[in-house]
Amino acid sequence: MQVKIYDDYEKLSEATADEFIDTIKQKPTALLCFATGNTPIGTYKALAKKIKEQELDVSKCFCIGLDEWLDVPPEVKGSCYYDLHHHVFEPLGIHSSQIHLFNALSTDIADECNKMNELIESKGGVDCMIVGIGKNGHIGFNEPGVSVKLQAHEQVLHIETLASGQNYFSGPVKIEKGITLGLAQVMNAKKLLLLASGMNKAEIIKAAIKGEITEMIPASCVQLHQNVFVMIDKEAASLI
Ligand code: F6R
Repeated sequence: MQVKIYDDYEKLSEATADEFIDTIKQKPTALLCFATGNTPIGTYKALAKKIKEQELDVSKCFCIGLDEWLDVPPEVKGSCYYDLHHHVFEPLGIHSSQIHLFNALSTDIADECNKMNELIESKGGVDCMIVGIGKNGHIGFNEPGVSVKLQAHEQVLHIETLASGQNYFSGPVKIEKGITLGLAQVMNAKKLLLLASGMNKAEIIKAAIKGEITEMIPASCVQLHQNVFVMIDKEAASLI
């Protein structure tokens, strides 16, 4: 586990974008996995800028989403579909044929999960995955108590996620469950970037990277990851 501490959010975002760029340069056909939420937005801005400046070809990459709010339609701002298109795919010029996201409106969630699992398998695993961390220690929608052995699965959302989740939407949206890559897939990512910024993440970062490895803090499993970069700013690092 490499813990990298940056002076501020901007430096953290620039450095995280550079990690993505390294992966794409080394493997133009890389499978990339993107989280939503507030933390990676700066990374995505920096990534679009750097890709343009360096005239990097991203036309052979393939992109997947980490998770999705079940039953929230794709046109709703705050859905992972909407936010990833807005912050990542459109600015990076990623074509729809290079994208696979969970379908929040699917009537067959088991099939949705299988499709994602098979896709990851068929591409030989995720080359670079960016994840945030919830104040309850979740990664994606892997909520406290989840097994580290799970692949993509449906998840009843934790009370903390239900509350913080409302902040992403323009108005009240009914959320109850999510669909998410499982911790087995997070642990298998060839490069994992775990991002956190701000004082409100300091406590959970301390618990996740210095505390006991426990299913009650899903992010603590990254302590056992083969190639994880914990990318945090000074405030998120203030208790470690
Ligand atoms: C989003 C996701 C969530 C967030 C986490 C942190 O796709 O998987 O686990 O990464 O809730 O969210 P922010 O970055 O908004 O603090």
